[in-house]
Amino acid sequence: MSLRDITVGPDTPQWHEAYLRYAPRVFPSISFRDWYALGGWDAGYRTFAIADGDEIVANASLQRLTVLLSGHELTGWQLGAVGVLPEFRGRGLQHRIMERLMQIPGKDDLVYLFANDTVLEFYPRFGFERAVEHLYGVDIDFEPAANERLRKLSRTSAADRQHVKRIAATALPVTREFGARDYGGVLLWYWTNFYQECFYYDEQSDVVIVAAQHEDRLEICDVVADHLVDLSGYLPRIAERSVRSVEFGFTPEIIWPTARVIREYAESPLFLLRGTALPKLPFKYPVLAQT
Ligand SMILES: CC(C)(COP(=O)(O)OP(=O)(O)OC[C@H]1O[C@@H](n2cnc3c(N)ncnc32)[C@H](O)[C@@H]1OP(=O)(O)O)[C@@H](O)C(=O)NCCC(=O)NCCS
Repeated sequence: MSLRDITVGPDTPQWHEAYLRYAPRVFPSISFRDWYALGGWDAGYRTFAIADGDEIVANASLQRLTVLLSGHELTGWQLGAVGVLPEFRGRGLQHRIMERLMQIPGKDDLVYLFANDTVLEFYPRFGFERAVEHLYGVDIDFEPAANERLRKLSRTSAADRQHVKRIAATALPVTREFGARDYGGVLLWYWTNFYQECFYYDEQSDVVIVAAQHEDRLEICDVVADHLVDLSGYLPRIAERSVRSVEFGFTPEIIWPTARVIREYAESPLFLLRGTALPKLPFKYPVLAQT
């Protein structure tokens, strides 16, 4: 066995197939292949891996983004797909990758990730600390509109895929508290995982709204547009049955300033490098920009 460090980006396609074989062996419920087929591997996505022959056995990826934090733009680096094949764990491989990967961000850049409950003690070893996020919502009653429904986008339509990529490339950040711009590749990942039937499009104003209804609660995951959007007019055109509350997957200080905090976000804990100054008010980094 000879293990070697490799870096894989859009410019090293010879390793892409190995990456697509590796990822489901660590994250079996997620399809990276569909994301890849849609063109989700963008210029800002780079993985730091260890290969055994032609196979990737350990990996951590960095997604470069433009981040908004308390109104300021920064270069952001989000870690993702951090994993090691089960038979290679406990030998220091991920440690070796983290040391290499942490050389990439500049000292003024923002480095962060969304973890799961099995690694809450892992990331602090590499200088990260947990930050608590909050979800906002609003109590509001309305019925679905009978006509002027928003059209659902289809992943099998080349024109629809183009709409998502084009709009995401120039979209305004949905929040300036802690948000991001230009995360179209990540959006495509959610279109192929978890939110397949949730991308709605309004041709007239060129807006993509990602929303999912759970009983009488409407979850607005993202609003992708190059202009400010009056969301209230769209809600009845998306709802599929009666709505009693709306929940936001991002801080809605721009789109719905009267929304209030409804609960702590516990699904996927946020970690940032120790000492990062965070917004003073409760915030939620956009769920569809999380890798
Ligand atoms: C978490 C994971 C990436 C660790 O990889 P690994 O190669 O086994 O880790 P290493 O051997 O490099 O361990 C480095 C250090 O972290 C410690 N460590 C490893 N896994 C840990 C965990 N889950 N929690 C806390 N500490 C952990 C090790 O004991 C070691 O400590 P030491 O330096 O004092 O000896 C691997 O267990 C994995 O793939 N898990 C499943 C996928 C996953 O949940 N990924 C996280 C997504 S957010």
